[in-house]
Amino acid sequence: MAFSFDTRPKVTVFVTQTGESFPCATSESLLQGMLKLGRKGIPVGCVNGGCGVCKVRILEGEVKALGPVSRAHVSVEEEAQGCTLACRVAPLTAVRLEVTGKFEKPFSKGFAATANRVSTGV
Ligand code: FES
Repeated sequence: MAFSFDTRPKVTVFVTQTGESFPCATSESLLQGMLKLGRKGIPVGCVNGGCGVCKVRILEGEVKALGPVSRAHVSVEEEAQGCTLACRVAPLTAVRLEVTGKFEKPFSKGFAATANRVSTGV
């Protein structure tokens, strides 16, 4: 009997900010799929739905929830816009996403345009 190695169906996940993509099984979270390959792109925190740093917006494709997405991190409005937590959803189809979590802040220091955008969101 042949030993099969990770033959699960996979789809491509594309991270808009970094231009990176990685294959992710449809049975694992977007974040787990990325971590398994040692990739970066989506910020990694608790990997358990609790910290919100892995927040992303799904721009294209479909995902399914693997567990509850905390309202503390994703509001109803944000969810309606496609926001979710990458550690809480698995891809159903190829997905294109953008990172919207806290990761943005350290990288946006010194960019006036970003500062403006942040101030209008409150
Ligand atoms: S890594 Fe903490 S909520 Fe996803």
